[in-house]
Amino acid sequence: MDLPEGSESFQAQSHLYKHMLNYISSMSLKCAVELGIPDIIHNHGRPIALSDLVTALEIHPSKTSFVYRLMSLLVHSGFFAATLPLHTKQKQGDHSKGDEEAEAAYDLTPHSRLLLKDKVPCLSPHILTLCPAFLTAWQFLGNWLKGDKGTNPFEIAHGMTLWEYADQNPAFNNLFNEAMASDSGMLNLVIRDCKPVFQGLGSLVDVGGGTGKVAKIISEAFPQLKCTVLDLPHVVANLHDTEKVKFIGGDMFHSIPPADALLLKLTLHAYSDEECLKILKKCREAIPSEGGKVIIIDIVINKEKEEHQVTEAKLFFDMLMMVVVTGRERSERDWEKLFLEAGFRSYKILPLFGLRSLIEVYP
Ligand SMILES: C[S@@+](CC[C@H](N)C(=O)[O-])C[C@H]1O[C@@H](n2cnc3c(N)ncnc32)[C@H](O)[C@@H]1O
Repeated sequence: MDLPEGSESFQAQSHLYKHMLNYISSMSLKCAVELGIPDIIHNHGRPIALSDLVTALEIHPSKTSFVYRLMSLLVHSGFFAATLPLHTKQKQGDHSKGDEEAEAAYDLTPHSRLLLKDKVPCLSPHILTLCPAFLTAWQFLGNWLKGDKGTNPFEIAHGMTLWEYADQNPAFNNLFNEAMASDSGMLNLVIRDCKPVFQGLGSLVDVGGGTGKVAKIISEAFPQLKCTVLDLPHVVANLHDTEKVKFIGGDMFHSIPPADALLLKLTLHAYSDEECLKILKKCREAIPSEGGKVIIIDIVINKEKEEHQVTEAKLFFDMLMMVVVTGRERSERDWEKLFLEAGFRSYKILPLFGLRSLIEVYP
């Protein structure tokens, strides 16, 4: 049967509107995180009725139906599961259908379990990507593309680079470092599968290692390893050395302390190819030619082999790197070109981390 006239246009309209309004999904999730909804459900110990959720949120009961609508979207997006509250379940059969709002109850899903504050990993701080400083930068994307000023839209919006902005805004600096550390918590889930990568190494420098979350996880998993974190002075200023992890404030473009291995997690994707070459050449100088290596944990785009949703998330990160810093996401071919140009001879990719891969690069 022929489709009715105009149906293609109506489908196109739905598609367009869905994408024009996609920010509503992001902002609703941000709201749920800010209100602490995942933790409230978790602390409740069982599915929570809408009325109990509103009470726990300390929201006036007159706003119950607004919370219901927020939760309906978040359930639709898979962040929470809608379920019947216990008392309703017990009475099942004798209650009249229809008052969905009065009967609504919510449970966590695997997605919202990753947002629980006292659990590791907890990705809640990553909601940073929706903070005003980042969102403002997006308003300048078109102007930046057409103009010849600024290395990225963030710089046009704020008159300085992201790193300078973090240096000058301690609250943002804390949020940024927390977001990075929260992402690094995911490493806990796979570090033990990476034994061959770290075995036999005596020292490791985490280049652009933030507040040392990855270094801590690695040093706990591989106690023979002496770990050092190199990051910008404002990032490590208030961090204290421990027996296992030392901190150095510096600039990786100028100097990287020598070690058996260097780690760069999500550091190179924040930089352009030209900048990565400079960093990788410094890395090459800092490791032994025999037995040394660079370990990169970063995105490798593989459109042909991965699921549509995975590629989409990687392309989102690619755009984010364009808008807030000077970086980009790379395919295996892009990475290989960089490694060879920087004077490395070979590399090995382990696609271990969902969106991220671990790449060992050898001199
Ligand atoms: C995207 S973050 C990744 C942080 C950390 N590796 C992680 O995954 O949690 C990039 C890091 O590089 C640091 N960085 C940026 N420029 C740097 C430089 N010139 N020298 C040293 N660190 C730098 C930033 O401060 C930030 O901590």
